[in-house]
Amino acid sequence: MLARSADTTDTDNKQETMRLPFRRRGAPRLAVAVPILLAQLVQAGPAAAFTPDLPRIVEREGRHALLVDGAPFLVLGGQAHNSSNYPAALPKVWAALKDAHANTLAIPVAWEQLEPEEGRFDFSYVDTLVAQARTHGKRLVLLWFGTWKNTGPAYTPAWVKFDNRRFPRMLDADGKPSYCLSPFGEATLAADKKAFVALMRHIRKIDAGKRTVIMVQVENEVGTYGLVRDHGVRAEAAFRQAVPAAVLARQPAPAGRPSQGSWSEVYGDYAGQYFHSWAIASYIEEIAKAGRAVYDLPMFVNNALREPGQPGQPATPWKGDFASGGPTWDVLGIYKAAAPHIDFAAPDIYMPESAKVNGVLAGFQRPDNPLLVAEMGNAAGYARYVWQIVGRGALGVVPFGIDYASYSNYPLGSKHSDRRMVEPFAQVYATLAPMARLWARWAFEGRTHGVAEGDDRAEQAVALDGWKATVSFREFQFGERQYLRDKNEYAEGTELPGGGVAIAQLGPGEFVLAGQRARVKFAPAGDKPAMLARVEERRFDAAGKWIMERNWNGDQTDYGLNLPAAPTVLKVTMRTYDY
Ligand code: DGJ
Repeated sequence: MLARSADTTDTDNKQETMRLPFRRRGAPRLAVAVPILLAQLVQAGPAAAFTPDLPRIVEREGRHALLVDGAPFLVLGGQAHNSSNYPAALPKVWAALKDAHANTLAIPVAWEQLEPEEGRFDFSYVDTLVAQARTHGKRLVLLWFGTWKNTGPAYTPAWVKFDNRRFPRMLDADGKPSYCLSPFGEATLAADKKAFVALMRHIRKIDAGKRTVIMVQVENEVGTYGLVRDHGVRAEAAFRQAVPAAVLARQPAPAGRPSQGSWSEVYGDYAGQYFHSWAIASYIEEIAKAGRAVYDLPMFVNNALREPGQPGQPATPWKGDFASGGPTWDVLGIYKAAAPHIDFAAPDIYMPESAKVNGVLAGFQRPDNPLLVAEMGNAAGYARYVWQIVGRGALGVVPFGIDYASYSNYPLGSKHSDRRMVEPFAQVYATLAPMARLWARWAFEGRTHGVAEGDDRAEQAVALDGWKATVSFREFQFGERQYLRDKNEYAEGTELPGGGVAIAQLGPGEFVLAGQRARVKFAPAGDKPAMLARVEERRFDAAGKWIMERNWNGDQTDYGLNLPAAPTVLKVTMRTYDY
């Protein structure tokens, strides 16, 4: 059972101290007790009177929280378009973020703009960005576009990009160069690290007191397309070496293979991909470690996904079907071993199919890997996944292209670059934003669950402590499907899947439900009969206080709790009784 104060489930704004025993990621396994003021958990944003405390990720019983100003924080993010990393582009980014009710902007800082000439650093964009983020009341996740951006060197400065003698590209088995910079380029690593450290030092200087910047992504979608690994001289020498013990401990040999030896001996058909993953992760580790030594913010990597695997089935060896060497779900062990200064690997979800999204979320949420959806398509169909992601206890979610720049990355995302694109996310975020701190705490305590409507539109069951919830979709609000004359008649606006619910269990029979376009029915797990005791529709006021608006009863509860298209928050109490 979790250690907590008797009243941690109370949703009123009481000044109350609770103690969260947790382990900082990367720290020895010791329980650390940290006082958290409940009021600070309820209110989003920095608390002026609170001791400055660097953002960090903590773990407890396999769950995670991102602490910002000392309390769990839920990233309801938006990522700007790639080329919006200039002051002139920012107004359209802030406008979209505001409409989206996002609390965090993820945005690139490119090596080419930070160090246009070797040794000459230009922090003017970073200064503008941080200052404007504060004005707009947003936190920042900086994306370091360095050696690799979507595997390529496009964001390196020209003095790197075109000097392949000093900054070598990978070679194939015949010695033919690839487009991708080699992770064995010593000068490349030294130069990238130097620039990244300069960036982190500057952020510390301008932001350590305010903590506007809460996390940093190191590189962007690393790996290599079309070539499984480097065959340069240094790479070949390393490939012949024994697999490091730390890697063997986290990424065991496939069944039937020797448990130690060279990469080929241990990993057979997987050797090239595993070796390249280790090489890139080791390179990133050097950069992250050096950056954290000057300013210790949480750091992560993001991943251009390969197809999610089947539960319990090993991944197939690389066949040119994804970027080899990236932090795909099948090599997370290698990244953990080689890059301990990276807190987690995050999926970039551009697979709209619900079965794939389920597989990706399950593959990246592990006791040793906190879940943050670092990118997700901004097409309307992705918005429902926010309920599921937040309900799973993720650190947050960041749809890509929450930006009014006149640019659409359709078919990956929305066709629109105006309010029509933002609206589906804005609805969900507007509902979650006022309770984001509270939700992040509930998630860390293991109280939350999430469901998104599947492509099959089928009913889903959620196992709760002593109860179960059944979530169904495409329902009319009144009556049951068998009452309909036309069994193929469905509620208007449900032609495409768009439903979702996040549920937090606050106590025995007590739940907070937030969602839309779904019918939820609660039932006890045992044999006793049960009834709804109260179904309070609630909202948060501007001061972050929970306001009870009305109690649902009669038609509004007789056929389940029917959440309309507009996201709705209910506080539900169920009780069993004896005849
Ligand atoms: C994933 C990348 O990480 C982003 O920077 C962007 O290029 C999207 N793909 C596509 O819009």
